[in-house]
Amino acid sequence: MSPFVVKGIARLRARVSLPGDKSISHRAVILAALSKGKTQILNFPGNQDCSYTLRAFRQLGLKIRRGRAAVVVYSRGPFGLQRPQRPIFTGDSGTTLRLLLGVLAGQNFSVRLTAGRSLSRRPMLRVTAPLRKMGAAIKSQVTLRLRSGQASHKSQVEEYPPILIKGGNLRGITYRIPVASAQVKSALLLAGLFARGETKIIEPLKTRDHTERMLKVFAADIHCKNNFSAIRGDKELTTPGKIFLPGDISSAVFFIVLAALIKGARLTVKKVSLNPTRLGAVRVLKRMGAKIKVTSHPSASLRAGKSQVTSFEPMGDIIVKGSSLKGTVVKKQEIPSLIDELPALMVAASLARGKTIFQGAGELRVKETDRIKSMQENLAKMGAKIKVARSGKAENIVIEGVEKLRGAKIKSFGDHRTAMSMAVAGLLAGGKTRIDDGSCINKSFPGFLSILRSLREKSYH
Ligand code: S3P
Repeated sequence: MSPFVVKGIARLRARVSLPGDKSISHRAVILAALSKGKTQILNFPGNQDCSYTLRAFRQLGLKIRRGRAAVVVYSRGPFGLQRPQRPIFTGDSGTTLRLLLGVLAGQNFSVRLTAGRSLSRRPMLRVTAPLRKMGAAIKSQVTLRLRSGQASHKSQVEEYPPILIKGGNLRGITYRIPVASAQVKSALLLAGLFARGETKIIEPLKTRDHTERMLKVFAADIHCKNNFSAIRGDKELTTPGKIFLPGDISSAVFFIVLAALIKGARLTVKKVSLNPTRLGAVRVLKRMGAKIKVTSHPSASLRAGKSQVTSFEPMGDIIVKGSSLKGTVVKKQEIPSLIDELPALMVAASLARGKTIFQGAGELRVKETDRIKSMQENLAKMGAKIKVARSGKAENIVIEGVEKLRGAKIKSFGDHRTAMSMAVAGLLAGGKTRIDDGSCINKSFPGFLSILRSLREKSYH
């Protein structure tokens, strides 16, 4: 635990460049690990989650070199992985664990996957159930949960890490995913690489499409349309050699919200991912009246140092000018495109004129912590008016904007995005805000506090 304090700032002028997108980085390592030869991944982030993915593939027998902002993966091809000597510990990285399950479902050896405190409480049945249908043998921690508030006390089975998986001999399936989850979709697409025939996936709502894009770059036999994707398993991947990772919009959002709410502020975030499946927060903030301009870079001609590299993800700069915001309704269909940005948007809504409703935001309860609870409790301490309303099965977050937030003692709940969002709330509030733990931020964005410090030395201790 390393507490930190933020104070309100009245002025902001900054240009920030961010490390590579966390989601895309995991996928780059995974596909590099499955395609024969050497793949260089540039602008690789130094966060803990991505390190767990690198470590996992080292344990699976691959040589991976890590430089300051680049990673080089040497692969022997899709069946070049080896049975690890010890269980693979995936920390609290849900993407590492769930995507790895997809890869291991295709390997003809057994592996035990363990997880940290928070990931050990996150649901896995959503991934294990379809992987079993494809033919993987999976054992995990099974718990019967009683659904509260139901007279019949109907029970529900859920699965948690640790997980023992023995893969091989997979068959393609057609699967309609019950929850909107890019991690589930990605695990199935990766397993599909090793399956006989075709694996077809239908999502309830379109989620981030980084896996599909990356699979295309690695020449997989995949086709996608709207919420549907299909992959055939009989084609070897080919590495593009070099991949450049655009900056992470989920890290950028904290500065975007901050700048959007400081009168006269001006912020430029450089070379950030502009993938439309991740830009929901920018669209919502614009609707709320934020002055945001997005300029895209022609990614095909992207250069890193002297060499030409493959970008495959739209990328550009986001320029924000401070103004005032007004409330809006965020529809359930929009949630996957801003799921990780929701805590930061809840801060923006707390200071917007009028009411903001986030519809169908229940998936936030199964992130690193229950983010509805963590954000509601913390924002209320700072004077925000926030409640959760149920509408059938859906949970809606309703926020009535206030003029000003006041500094308070904040609990991160060990969750990086709660800590960073509340730091932004503290910078926009009167008085001092003390956040109990800054170290959890390293999970996704180790440089966050030093960027805050550089924004205005005096606003941070
Ligand atoms: C991620 C997908 C999302 C997101 C997570 C990263 C990914 O999770 O919240 O931070 O990289 O695919 P779900 O798939 O559980 O929605």
